[in-house]
Amino acid sequence: MDITDRTVLIVGGTSGIGRGLARRFADAGSTVVVGGRDTSRVDDLETVSIDVTDAESVLRARDEVLAEHPDLDLVVTMSGVMILEDLRDPAHFAQAQSTIDVNLLGTIRVLDAFTPHLIGHGRGDFLTVTSGIGFMPFPLMPTYGASKAAVHAYSESLRAHLAGTGVGVTELVPPAVATAGQEKVNPNALPLDAFLDEVLGLLSQDPTPHEIVVERAQPLRWAERDGTYAELLEQRSRSLDTLPGR
Ligand SMILES: NC(=O)c1ccc[n+]([C@@H]2O[C@H](COP(=O)([O-])OP(=O)(O)OC[C@H]3O[C@@H](n4cnc5c(N)ncnc54)[C@H](OP(=O)(O)O)[C@@H]3O)[C@@H](O)[C@H]2O)c1
Repeated sequence: MDITDRTVLIVGGTSGIGRGLARRFADAGSTVVVGGRDTSRVDDLETVSIDVTDAESVLRARDEVLAEHPDLDLVVTMSGVMILEDLRDPAHFAQAQSTIDVNLLGTIRVLDAFTPHLIGHGRGDFLTVTSGIGFMPFPLMPTYGASKAAVHAYSESLRAHLAGTGVGVTELVPPAVATAGQEKVNPNALPLDAFLDEVLGLLSQDPTPHEIVVERAQPLRWAERDGTYAELLEQRSRSLDTLPGR
């Protein structure tokens, strides 16, 4: 994938990985717009206000971006929330619902909004974002893992639907990366710059791989194939001891 001459929208680009990826694309020469609910955090890139849980907001943002950038050819669905849940307490349902609304339905709302444009354009790419946790659960974040497994399956189907249109689908599978969302749960997360260096290297390959899986994410992505799944899941289940009352 060329990263030097794209017109890119990163939904969920107002902080963390999305913000870092936006900077890398802009530094490489691409035109970049970042979207999110709180655009006040970004003063060095063009922004658009968007709440992926609100269908009207997504369509308004789509219209605003395409009016300004009719040659948009890459849409990144980065918006996501990572929420801890205690499944012994049925009150967790509210957290499950908002996780699915942002991570899964939010992704689908954005993909749907831009699919006609990219097909009409005859070329372009979607970059969806899952997680190593979508392939190897981290039981403290059960619905998060379920939402990311769902985005993986959805991305595979979307690629099949778009075959022959000139529109590609690439899935980014991050391991734990040191952004604000991770500080509480994982002090050993990969530094953001090291992660982005590796991502940009893989993304720039031609043809771009269907999945961008950096080295740190490989053991999670391939645990089932490698026969390490049960052992890793047991290790990762120990994190549940940190829940109050366990
Ligand atoms: N960091 C990790 O360890 C890790 C690992 C695997 C996968 N991931 C995935 O990578 C993506 C980015 O994570 P991150 O660590 O960079 O998190 P982050 O810093 O919290 O960024 C999350 C982004 O999502 C946006 N967002 C949240 N709710 C939204 C909504 N309702 N509408 C529109 N945008 C919304 C936020 O923007 P606003 O607040 O401005 O709305 C922000 O730009 C997520 O999908 C996450 O699941 C992260």
